[in-house]
Amino acid sequence: MNEIRIAPLRGQALQPYLEELGKLRLGVFREYPYLYDGTLEDERDYLKTYVTAATSLVALAQDGDKPVGATTCLRMDEADAGFRACFEKAGYDTSSICYLGESVLQKPYRGRGIGKQFCKIREDHARRLDCTVTAFCAVDRDEKHALRPADYQPLDGFWQAQGYVRQPSLQAAFAWKEVHEANESLKTLTFWIKKLA
Ligand SMILES: CC(C)(COP(=O)(O)OP(=O)(O)OC[C@H]1O[C@@H](n2cnc3c(N)ncnc32)[C@H](O)[C@@H]1OP(=O)(O)O)[C@@H](O)C(=O)NCCC(=O)NCCS
Repeated sequence: MNEIRIAPLRGQALQPYLEELGKLRLGVFREYPYLYDGTLEDERDYLKTYVTAATSLVALAQDGDKPVGATTCLRMDEADAGFRACFEKAGYDTSSICYLGESVLQKPYRGRGIGKQFCKIREDHARRLDCTVTAFCAVDRDEKHALRPADYQPLDGFWQAQGYVRQPSLQAAFAWKEVHEANESLKTLTFWIKKLA
C-alpha cells in the first residue's frame, strides 16, 4: 500500500474535491452505525458550509490522487444551529469550542494511525482558533440494533484513547433517511468533548 498523503484544505481550495468528499461520506456513512442513505445533492449542500465558513478546515487523505479519507472541523459558532443549540443551552461560549464534523476513512486504510493523525490535525487547528474545547457527536444506537454487524466494534475505546469524554447531557437530534427506510427519521446523537491543554 502506498504512503497516504494528508493535505489540509480551506475555503475555495475545497471546491475541486467536493464531489469526491461527498462520495467518501456517502460510502462510509452508509455503514452501521450511521446507515445514511443520502444523495450527492445533500452532500453538496452539507459541504458548502466548509467552503464558506471562515474557521473551517478539511484534511483530505489521498492514496496517490485517490481520496480515501477526510476529516472536518470548524468553530462551533459557525456550525449548524442543530449542533450548537445544546451547548448554548448549557451556557457554553460556542466561540471557544471547535466542532469536529467527521472523520471518515475507507475500510482498507483503517488501523494505520490515520484516525489519530486526523484528531491531531483538528486539535492543532482548534488551538490556532484559540478554542479551548473540541467536541463531536456520535449517533446513539441500541446494542441490540437489528443491523449491527456481528463483528462491529464501537469506536468508544478509540475516542477515549484520544482524550474524549462522552457527555450524556449534551445531545443533538437530526433526521436522515436510513438505508432500509422509505423516509427520514429522527436520531439522537450524543456529544463527546475534550478540554485542550
Ligand atoms: C474513525 C476512523 C477514522 C479511525 O481511523 P483509523 O485510522 O482506523 O484509526 P487509527 O488507526 O488511528 O487508530 C488509532 C488507535 O485506535 C485503535 N482503534 C481503532 N478503531 C478502534 C475501535 N473501534 N475500538 C477501539 N480502538 C480502536 C487502533 O487500534 C489504534 O490503537 P493503537 O494506537 O494502540 O495502535 C475510522 O474507524 C472510520 O472511518 N470509521 C467509520 C466512520 C466513523 O464512524 N467515524 C467517526 C464518526 S464521524
